[in-house]
Amino acid sequence: MQRAIRALLGSRWPLLGMLGAFAAVVVAVVMAATGGLAQAALALLLGLTLIGLVVVGASAREAEQRARRTEKQVRSLTEAIEAVGTSVQAVAERQNDPSGGPLAAIIGAQRLDAAVRHDELVALHHELRADLHATLTERQLAELSALANLYAMLGADDEVPAFGGFAASPRTVLRLASLVRRLPADALIVECGSGSSTVWLALACRRAGKGRVVALEHHELYAERTREALARHGLDDIAEVRDAPLEPVTVGGEKHDWYAAPQWNELRGIDLLFVDGPPGSVGPRSRFPAFPLLAAALDDGAIVALDDAQRQDEADIAADWLAETVDGIRLADDEMVGRTRFFTVTR
Ligand SMILES: C[S@@+](CC[C@H](N)C(=O)[O-])C[C@H]1O[C@@H](n2cnc3c(N)ncnc32)[C@H](O)[C@@H]1O
Repeated sequence: MQRAIRALLGSRWPLLGMLGAFAAVVVAVVMAATGGLAQAALALLLGLTLIGLVVVGASAREAEQRARRTEKQVRSLTEAIEAVGTSVQAVAERQNDPSGGPLAAIIGAQRLDAAVRHDELVALHHELRADLHATLTERQLAELSALANLYAMLGADDEVPAFGGFAASPRTVLRLASLVRRLPADALIVECGSGSSTVWLALACRRAGKGRVVALEHHELYAERTREALARHGLDDIAEVRDAPLEPVTVGGEKHDWYAAPQWNELRGIDLLFVDGPPGSVGPRSRFPAFPLLAAALDDGAIVALDDAQRQDEADIAADWLAETVDGIRLADDEMVGRTRFFTVTR
């Protein structure tokens, strides 16, 4: 019923109510003027009632609209709360998800990426190691063949001091031994630092039937060991080891400790000088004095060999030797054999 009246009147009912009230007041005025006071009072009452209904209706309508707005707000708030609840639940579900959810998927992908890169690096490392191994094997092969060559050429029939560690490498010793064959009959070979090389050089002299070896040794123990090895091979008439303690010397403005002068200053006509001492532990550029101090004793065309030339100290020494002239004597760069640099003396 209410809906039917509303549908009929729509939003026009306040206007109609007010018109009705106006009409009732007009009727009341007319009635009062014509003497019908009771009818006038009734018409006025009707008019006032209509006004009251319009006012109450308007308030009710406003209250209804407000209620609708509030209801709408409550609904959207409820929806928002529900949405938040859904999100919270989704987060909780992802947290409880054993697979870890999307975040874990990202982290997982990154881990996978890192694992792939790790595998690639490991593979590269293995490849490099294999290459390095191949290179080392080639170097070792070169040393092994030099060793076999030395025994075949010189045929040591007793134990010689071992190669490795402090000793010059078989490749170096093989080249030195080969050079002995080209030296003059009265060849003088001088060595700075004794050991296995002294024995091999003496063996080379014996096999070539020429030359003698003088080794300067600052360390009594190693001097004695080399002497014993020479004696075992019956080489003590070909090679001598001189005890030459280190003493301070100034060469080219640099202070060094080098072999005591009385042990070498009478030497003349050196054809082959092998510089393999004093060891680096004695001081920086410990082998530098060899050329400046022995230059005058070197024969023209003599060979000078500097071991461990791959080291920075020895590389610097080689550069300095090549740059200087001592009493008109110069060194010309010849070749590198293994770790040893060879020079030729010119005047
Ligand atoms: C490089 S080594 C000389 C080695 C020698 N020219 C040779 O090839 O056998 C230099 C010095 O190291 C010392 N030395 C020799 N053998 C050694 C050893 N087994 N341990 C420690 N020092 C040694 C000696 O004083 C030697 O003069």
